[in-house]
Amino acid sequence: MEKRNFKSNWDKMVQFYEDFTNTKDSYSSLIEWKAIKTILPRLENKTILDLGCGTGRFSFLLEELNPKMILGIDLSDEMINFCKERAKEKGSQIEFSQGDIENISFIDDNSIDFVFSSTVLHYVKDLNEVMKEINRVLISAGTCILSVINPVYSACYPLSKENGEIPVDDEWNVKYLDRGLRAYIQPWIEYNPNIDNYLSYSYHHTMSDYINSIVKAGLQIEELLEPLPPAEWKEDNIKRYYGYMDTPTYAIFKLKKN
Ligand SMILES: C[S@@+](CC[C@H](N)C(=O)[O-])C[C@H]1O[C@@H](n2cnc3c(N)ncnc32)[C@H](O)[C@@H]1O
Repeated sequence: MEKRNFKSNWDKMVQFYEDFTNTKDSYSSLIEWKAIKTILPRLENKTILDLGCGTGRFSFLLEELNPKMILGIDLSDEMINFCKERAKEKGSQIEFSQGDIENISFIDDNSIDFVFSSTVLHYVKDLNEVMKEINRVLISAGTCILSVINPVYSACYPLSKENGEIPVDDEWNVKYLDRGLRAYIQPWIEYNPNIDNYLSYSYHHTMSDYINSIVKAGLQIEELLEPLPPAEWKEDNIKRYYGYMDTPTYAIFKLKKN
């Protein structure tokens, strides 16, 4: 898949992605961020790099912890424009810059205390280079948190078809070892009244793809979280609870540079 296709895909999705994630009961606030907070290092006066920052929501949350500097980069110009507007409104000091996380050679070696990334790595075909670059830019003993789409979930993404056909519901089933391109409709499309069937593309990485690329880069895995859904869901919405238990959305790696 051409990089520009990912870019134009995301350029169109900014406000809908923001509306989808910015609800109090989004999976990201109730499950992902809640788990991330339990493993965050001390960030006061530290330098932070947010890889694939999207609408900047995690960068803004991390800014509340008083770091020295945050740089958020994203492939999509529209995402970065959104972040810059938001930063102006909030009086934030975060720097946002358009860029590809597969090419961060402009960042100095050993210059970042904390690298963060949420739900971005399934847009990158080869994880090895990204992990190597994370290891290069981190200071010695620096920390990295990578929240990724749990491989059991991305394994369910329908495989892309040559004719660009929209997948049917039955195609959402586990195809774990198939690294072929995936094409599917993202849930945030529901927030766009003008688009019905819009295919988004991504890859699927297995757990060994993540672990081997991390180890090969020389990074150390300190912890791997697969957070549970909120217990209240059992009472409020049992279907949602067991849906998440069967195919969890997140796997969250905490890594350390040796
Ligand atoms: C699911 S969103 C996640 C955004 C944000 N991290 C969050 O959790 O809200 C994926 C983001 O990754 C960005 N992205 C995809 N491929 C990228 C790449 N190669 N370099 C930088 N950003 C990329 C997209 O533009 C999009 O904003």
